[in-house]
Amino acid sequence: MNKWHELLSTPEWAAYLHEEVLPVVTRGVELGDDLLEIGPGPGASTQWLRHRVKRLVAVELEPEAAAARGERFAGTNVEAVAGDASALPYPDASFDTVGMFTMLHHVPTRAMQDAIVAGAFRALRPGGALIGSDSLASDRLHRHHENDTYNPVEPAAFLTRLQTIGFGEIMFEVSDRLLFRARKPQAAE
Ligand SMILES: C[S@@+](CC[C@H](N)C(=O)[O-])C[C@H]1O[C@@H](n2cnc3c(N)ncnc32)[C@H](O)[C@@H]1O
Repeated sequence: MNKWHELLSTPEWAAYLHEEVLPVVTRGVELGDDLLEIGPGPGASTQWLRHRVKRLVAVELEPEAAAARGERFAGTNVEAVAGDASALPYPDASFDTVGMFTMLHHVPTRAMQDAIVAGAFRALRPGGALIGSDSLASDRLHRHHENDTYNPVEPAAFLTRLQTIGFGEIMFEVSDRLLFRARKPQAAE
């Protein structure tokens, strides 16, 4: 990622996530004991979420960032893992909640984005929630991603993609960014 992403380590970014994003996407959600976070980056969302669950597994593509998360959260309930979330190694139905914040636009192809979301669906327990956010396409965002991956989702299409994967009870808040919440249906009786 480029220099602009130093923003993700600032108190301002943490305040944005903690005050404007996380309270909205977790509203009415029972987070449960086990939460999987995909693409934690410097860990601002991890820091907020970890106080609300028993165990948080944070899967990060960049090995250096994953190692730094391991140091930052050593001795806590956070397990920092280096790995590609488009091939999650966890058993089916092993997490109560999956979170992904400001990360989908960093995934180079739509197929990989779908693999990540489908993997999240598979890893969720029936009734579990997917929560997340992302920046939406704009000239400004595009400029900020010079020499970097830039593949923002289009909200209406993303809604259909979530439904196709199997999610229900989908909540979207769309402004200059997308906030989303969706649920894996309870198993059919
Ligand atoms: C823009 S950062 C966002 C970090 C953090 N979620 C936040 O909002 O502050 C996107 C993160 O997603 C990670 N990422 C991208 N593709 C990934 C993948 N396939 N698996 C796991 N992490 C991925 C990147 O390495 C990066 O740390």
